[in-house]
Amino acid sequence: MLLFREKIPAGWLPRMLANLPEVLVDHAQLERKAATSALNLEKYPDLHDRVHELNAIAIEELQHFELVLGLLRERGISFHNTHPSPWIGGLMRSVRNGSRHQAIDHLICAALIEGRSCEKFQVLAAALEHIEPALSKFYAGLVESEGNHYATYLIMARHIDEPETQRRLDFYLDLDAELMRQKHGHPILH
Ligand SMILES: [Fe+2]
Ligand SMILES: [Fe+2]
Repeated sequence: MLLFREKIPAGWLPRMLANLPEVLVDHAQLERKAATSALNLEKYPDLHDRVHELNAIAIEELQHFELVLGLLRERGISFHNTHPSPWIGGLMRSVRNGSRHQAIDHLICAALIEGRSCEKFQVLAAALEHIEPALSKFYAGLVESEGNHYATYLIMARHIDEPETQRRLDFYLDLDAELMRQKHGHPILH
């Protein structure tokens, strides 16, 4: 389903499993930022006819945020800021200026973040099946939604300018692969 050119690094899953409480806090932050990102996309004139769809994504992300906050509460984990993701930072730094270019790049970055989350939630669901069955089900339950967000953002970009989206997607898939190879040891999803 996903177009990624680099695998998730081998060290990622053991790091997640060894730091589950911190990973859950980072996940809460990720859902909060996903909701904000959907709303921020509404500023682009090329997406003004998509406000309703973007609101629907923002609402879904807020619901995910609430679900993760519920898990934090159950486990007695406090909500706090987590280390910024070098991968997300690296993607977002290459968003170009200029309304249409910026909208396309921003949509592609948002799509890749959703796509990588979808992929990683699948891996987590499988890995947690026997050690944390409830958490495994929770992650499995998010896969479809994040996969839909990935597809929706790419469709929105293609609708603005198909050839330009193809060109930039090619650029961003290489950048994603390059950033994935830059190791970091933070207990964060991305
Ligand atoms: Fe989400
Ligand atoms: Fe999402």
